[in-house]
Amino acid sequence: MTLHKNLLDIKSITDNEIEAILTKAQYYSDNKESKKTLDGKIIFNMFFENSTRTRTSFEMAAKKLGAQVINWDASTSSIKKDETFMDTIQTLAAMKPDAIIVRHSEYNAPATIAANVDCPVINAGDSFRAHPSQAILDALTIKQAKGKIKGLEIAICGDIAHSRVANSNVELLSRMGANIRLVAPKYWLPEKEKISQNNVTIYDDFDAGIKNADIIMMLRCQKERWKTENSEFGEDYFKTWGLTIKRLDKANPNALIMHPGPINRNVEISDAAADDPYRSLILKQVANGVPARMAILDWAIND
Ligand code: CP
Repeated sequence: MTLHKNLLDIKSITDNEIEAILTKAQYYSDNKESKKTLDGKIIFNMFFENSTRTRTSFEMAAKKLGAQVINWDASTSSIKKDETFMDTIQTLAAMKPDAIIVRHSEYNAPATIAANVDCPVINAGDSFRAHPSQAILDALTIKQAKGKIKGLEIAICGDIAHSRVANSNVELLSRMGANIRLVAPKYWLPEKEKISQNNVTIYDDFDAGIKNADIIMMLRCQKERWKTENSEFGEDYFKTWGLTIKRLDKANPNALIMHPGPINRNVEISDAAADDPYRSLILKQVANGVPARMAILDWAIND
């Protein structure tokens, strides 16, 4: 098997590779007519879990670069006839795609696929572990909005324990020199001793955690990954941990709001905060999913 570039998580790519991907992403963001660098390539989009943003933007990114995309659907596949995961992967790999994009609920499923196929594998989100393309599009969005990442105070708030977005963003944004605050109820915070980065701190008080922050990144309450029903969830959760315009007063006056989506309105974020035309970057994040994923595909397949 040839050695391929994969994007499995942020840890496994170098600073130079991150820089190269972000530079390409900015290029694709600036240039609406893109070179067809993936002309003739065939890419499998394999989503074992639901998705709107990631699946659609990977498909759009691949098509903008001239590739053809096959959207493999778990619900209509032979997995429903008891074919095993590995047999499915080997069957599809035998058709020799040029890249596989995969989302899966199992920890490390993308790495297992990468070890068994002869093409690049891009992780489109696995379990609560990693969502590297989301972190890259978030970094692109922050750079565009603030002109830099180094030195920014970035508060990541909410269901941190179950969030692959939080994991990949902590990894990427702390490496790029931001000061990261993890803001959540105690039961969703990591143990202090398990945090390896010097520039990551934890807060179990929302107002203290967002004080003077430049970016407030809210997270979805990921009920589907909770082992037990959370008694605080609902109206009480919103009162204590939800972002409202009034609470934004605590942050830097120029603070911007992010959320990877899908958002749970009036659970972790108010309508007014999510839709604020000046302070919310949520739809800009969605838009940046396309150039960021064009850059990732181009890097993985061509560089
Ligand atoms: N942010 C994100 O991964 O959204 P989707 O689940 O809609 O792809």
